[in-house]
Amino acid sequence: MTQDQLKQAVAQAAVDLILPQLTEKSIVGIGTGSTANFFIDLLAKHKMDFDGAVASSEATAARLKGHGIPVYDLNSVQELEFYVDGADECNKYLELIKGGGAALTREKIVAAVAGTFVCIADESKRVDFLGAFPLPVEVIPMARSHVARELVKLGGDPIYREGVVTDNGNVILDVYNLQITNPRELEAKINNIVGVVTNGLFAARPADVLLLGTGKGVETHK
Ligand code: A5P
Repeated sequence: MTQDQLKQAVAQAAVDLILPQLTEKSIVGIGTGSTANFFIDLLAKHKMDFDGAVASSEATAARLKGHGIPVYDLNSVQELEFYVDGADECNKYLELIKGGGAALTREKIVAAVAGTFVCIADESKRVDFLGAFPLPVEVIPMARSHVARELVKLGGDPIYREGVVTDNGNVILDVYNLQITNPRELEAKINNIVGVVTNGLFAARPADVLLLGTGKGVETHK
């Protein structure tokens, strides 16, 4: 199976998982990236079975609207049962690195609100230790150099993602060569640097369910 076929399989598995639990009043949180896009396209076939969605990026909002799915502001939503999104890396504790698509802050906000975070990923994302994928950090532009110096003190090699401005008007530093032995502790440490909006470690709020696409089928991890 190709990587795209694995992504499509986990996207379908996520639809199959949440659909029986949706009502015509349900609003679904939806993430960003190629796997999330497969999920949107498959979920759209059932758009009469739920009310609408909250999007973790402008790109996702546009795709949802393209399918005729109403997109709600998170502040106007009372309850979000599910958040479905991809990941750049996941470990066996369902801790993640996200933000390869620069949408990490809104992704983290929607995940924080959702009752159940369903992560959908192909098996290439599964790692023993997080950190081979450079950790994205969203930074207020004027703090870029300061934050980069602080990240070096934490043992990382930050690289400015040139030409990228997030949906929130900020910039991204991708941090290479971090030894992430305690993801939760590092997530908090980096978020504590003045000028950081948030970082792409999802350890304080890991996924609740991981649907992992493998050559032998979709594995469910909880
Ligand atoms: C977006 O900012 C990311 O967090 C994505 O969820 C992540 O990069 C996974 O993307 P793919 O599904 O395209 O691999």
